[in-house]
Amino acid sequence: MRADSGIIDQIKSSTDLVRLVSEYVRLRKAGANYVGLCPFHTEKTPSFHVHQSRQFYYCFGCGAKGDVFKFLEAIERLSFPEALRRLADRSGIPLNKAGGAIEGDDQAQEKTRLYQVNEEAARLFRRQLRHSDEGQQALNYLYGRGLNDDTIERFEIGYASGRSDWLFQRLRGNTPQDLLIKAGLVQQREDDSRCFDRFRRRVMFPIRDEAGRLVAFGGRIVGDGQPKYLNSPETPVYSKSRLLFALNLAREPIRRRDAAILVEGYMDCIALHQSGLNNVIAVCGTSLTEQQARLLSRFSSNIVVNFDPDAAGSKATLRSLEVFLDQHLAVRVLTLPAKQDPDAFIRQCGADTYSRLLKEAPSCFDYLLARAAHEYDLQTVEGKVAAVNLLLPFLDRVTNRIEKSERIKGVSQAFSVDESIIREELKKVRTTGNREQLGVDAVRLRTDLNLNEKYLLKAILEDDSVAETVLCELAQSKDYLGFQSESIFQELLGLYQEQGRISLSVLQERLTRQQDRDYLNQALFAELQPLEPAHYLEKMRQRKIEQEINLLQKQIKAAEQSRDLELLSSLHSKKVALRKSSSF
Ligand code: UTP
Ligand code: MN
Repeated sequence: MRADSGIIDQIKSSTDLVRLVSEYVRLRKAGANYVGLCPFHTEKTPSFHVHQSRQFYYCFGCGAKGDVFKFLEAIERLSFPEALRRLADRSGIPLNKAGGAIEGDDQAQEKTRLYQVNEEAARLFRRQLRHSDEGQQALNYLYGRGLNDDTIERFEIGYASGRSDWLFQRLRGNTPQDLLIKAGLVQQREDDSRCFDRFRRRVMFPIRDEAGRLVAFGGRIVGDGQPKYLNSPETPVYSKSRLLFALNLAREPIRRRDAAILVEGYMDCIALHQSGLNNVIAVCGTSLTEQQARLLSRFSSNIVVNFDPDAAGSKATLRSLEVFLDQHLAVRVLTLPAKQDPDAFIRQCGADTYSRLLKEAPSCFDYLLARAAHEYDLQTVEGKVAAVNLLLPFLDRVTNRIEKSERIKGVSQAFSVDESIIREELKKVRTTGNREQLGVDAVRLRTDLNLNEKYLLKAILEDDSVAETVLCELAQSKDYLGFQSESIFQELLGLYQEQGRISLSVLQERLTRQQDRDYLNQALFAELQPLEPAHYLEKMRQRKIEQEINLLQKQIKAAEQSRDLELLSSLHSKKVALRKSSSF
């Protein structure tokens, strides 16, 4: 990739990081900067900071950091050239020159070719559905399941022939074999290395990502056969844990209605779309993942889960509620009567009945209370225990203190169990449970950088004249030795001597320890009023005195233990003198 740095700078300066991040994260202003919940790890308290004027972000929880390009690369899983192109498009900057260079990027190029080969396969599948005898059977099957031609077109449904190398024979002329294998369309036999199609005798559902790129297929067997549904394997463009089926079609409706309906199966999703409910997406044979919930949260924070009313669906419902609560989404649960999945229900009872039930769908906690009451005998002690245990992981996930207290009260009343017992149990969940609290703990355990060091670092990075004065002084005095941020100063001095100026991004790269990066960013994000330049030298003197006092403090402790009164009194008077000299 050889986009010239001019165009990169141009794109960078015409993109506002705060606005870009806001499309993914709810940011709130904190002084001159912004904070929000980190999109790169699960956390309850915001530790993701965006520096407005410097245009970079840093997460104190997981250490994620970077500029507009890094952010887009990480959150959309793009290569640098792809991120560059997106941001260029966004700002209306033409990318001829860099565009030429983009094609040189192997990864991006391979992805593009995978999308293309998928498109080509989808075209063949669609044609086969309409123009072959076996396709006609598949089409009849789809009609029999209530789909009309409009829907079949909109979802680009096709048919993969039952012949073992039908697709391979049609694509091999224009497409290298290993690309077909990489796309998951073709498999190679081990013994005679012959190629055959992965999908045979299946109705084919193209799977597009939220941006509409064709990344994979789901195929349902026509007639008997195993497995009923077969998906593409994971490929460089397809990761099933990050994908929601039909999100490309549903994203705008979801935004408009500010609500999304999540179902389990392709056919459920398609049937609901056909009936006019178009804010519907599906997980494709996996339990809901954190990444999927995050992806969805970009379009709305109101979710209705409508999984199959069987044992598997009900288990998957619980799991999805946990995942959604972790992402702070408002989630309700729709359980259809008569053990029907959404597809069967909508065909039998119609969209109006479905919509009515949808409106009445209980909130997450009401659902859980009802479910516990239904599943367990609350007259017995064992029943109460089981009911409380069902609710605990969900109570634990409520972060708002007032809401939590209300929820605990609700559970206590519903099951006639003392509130204090529930609180006790919650504490246990917290200490023994396997909740991923990594981020939160990391933040909690974090040590604060000394205030004077913060002043110094911040000023050095934000004001060149302060940098010069302070760094020259420190180069001579070496007073930074023993600072918490000693290695940062070391790097700063090195950089300054090499390049005559400080580049923040180079500095961030050079700091190899997480702790140092954390300190640096604490300083950068600190809300401190700038001082007169001369006062920074004073800050340095103060810091030095603090250090000496710390040292004295240690000696005093030792003297106390050895009861050396003479030494003790001399140490004390030294300390008093130091204290006096430090106040200006
Ligand atoms: P279901 O078995 O509930 O499928 O699986 P369904 O949607 O009711 O299927 P129809 O109505 O008989 O066609 C729900 C989802 O689980 C995944 C698929 O994504 C399916 O849509 N699944 C199911 C698989 O991945 N493999 C399977 O063998 C079965
Ligand atoms: Mn079904």
